[in-house]
Amino acid sequence: MNVADSEVVLSVLDSAGYVRTPELGRADVILVNTCAVRENAEQRIYGRLGDFRHIRKSNPGVVVGVLGCMAERLRKDLMASDSSVDIVVGPDEYRRLPELVDQAINGEKGIAVRLSRVENYDDIVPLRTDGISAWVSVMRGCDKFCTFCVVPFTRGRERSRSLPSVTREIAGLLERGFREVTLLGQNVNSYRDEDGNHDFADLLGSVAHLDPSLRVRFTTSHPQDMSDKLIATIAAHGNICNYIHLPVQSGSDRILRLMNRTYTRRHYLDLVERIRRQIPQVSLSTDIIAGFPTETDIDHQQTLELIRDIEYDGAFTFKYSPRENTKAWHMGDDVPDNVKIARLNEIIDLQRRISFRRNQAMIGQTVEVLIEGSSRKSAEDFSGRTDTNKMVVFPKGQSEIGQFRMFRIEQANSATLFGSPVETEAHVPIAVNE
Ligand code: 5AD
Ligand code: SF4
Repeated sequence: MNVADSEVVLSVLDSAGYVRTPELGRADVILVNTCAVRENAEQRIYGRLGDFRHIRKSNPGVVVGVLGCMAERLRKDLMASDSSVDIVVGPDEYRRLPELVDQAINGEKGIAVRLSRVENYDDIVPLRTDGISAWVSVMRGCDKFCTFCVVPFTRGRERSRSLPSVTREIAGLLERGFREVTLLGQNVNSYRDEDGNHDFADLLGSVAHLDPSLRVRFTTSHPQDMSDKLIATIAAHGNICNYIHLPVQSGSDRILRLMNRTYTRRHYLDLVERIRRQIPQVSLSTDIIAGFPTETDIDHQQTLELIRDIEYDGAFTFKYSPRENTKAWHMGDDVPDNVKIARLNEIIDLQRRISFRRNQAMIGQTVEVLIEGSSRKSAEDFSGRTDTNKMVVFPKGQSEIGQFRMFRIEQANSATLFGSPVETEAHVPIAVNE
């Protein structure tokens, strides 16, 4: 989400005549886009701001700005005695950046942190570097108010872009050679184009129709809004990826209620069953929080049991981090840190074993991969992903970035598949089957 927002910021600044520099030391303006979802994200920003102090010593005129979700929460801290920050701009005020930067150049600090009910940057074309895969923000904000989550406070109410504006933007990306888009929203399935009366399934279908060889992904889905129509849309389009990120957060009904997640374990399991029935090859991942207030060992065991029952392909796991303003903040933070860590490690361990088993089961299968670039670990290898979002690493050979190519899986660990090319045509996914 922040990568996508930074591309909006770059576009706003580009229109005002600024250019991006890859060298921090040469920048006249340094902006950091922040995340407030957990405390360690915030700590990292403080570390970065410390680094900028050195830069200011050698370049006293530099303008330093803090953007994004930390802005509202920390504006007082950031602006007070801490002279290393000149401007603080919340997620709905990026249009004002040129004006605020100009003022800061003239020595005036600036704050713009108002949240908006309507701002969706619909008319701003994000400034992206050419590539294979692009993030496309389709809605902003969140109305779910999960009791642990700061997002509804930092990013405000839900609002969606119009369907034609999203498809127009993606048509432009196709012309520039992008092969994959990920439609983004904090709660992407509650997307709603009021004028055209379109829901998220309509949007997804329209994007998939643009080009049968464009891979379409989306994130993040709230289980409550995962409609049958949406599942059917994914099943019907060969180019909508068979991958759903479906955060469960906990396997305990008591904790789910305290979290205000609005579903029970039973609802969630039924939903997964419906999804798997209609999209048999689907790969599923989730988010899980360990150590929510009052979580007992029994609650934790229920989470482990749910993970075992579902057998996710992957999970993002977090230690509960109390956030000011949220309801859970007032529930106390009564699970001791060592218990949180132990539970988190148990969850990670279990999921790693499941991922390993599921990936091992793919050995011998032939899969289609969109080649994304050099492997992070080895310059001789490329990496890419299957439509089920599994990373595949393979020798560069005759392959090219941006190509769809078939690979036979030879080896696997819990995070990566290793393949060798198979000389059959990669089939361009057949678009519709409605
Ligand atoms: N503490 C820990 N994890 C959190 N998340 C959101 N808020 C918190 C918090 N206060 C996690 C949730 C969410 C993901 C993006 O971050 O699992 O799905
Ligand atoms: Fe936060 Fe996601 Fe819940 Fe919205 S749905 S409040 S973004 S965890």
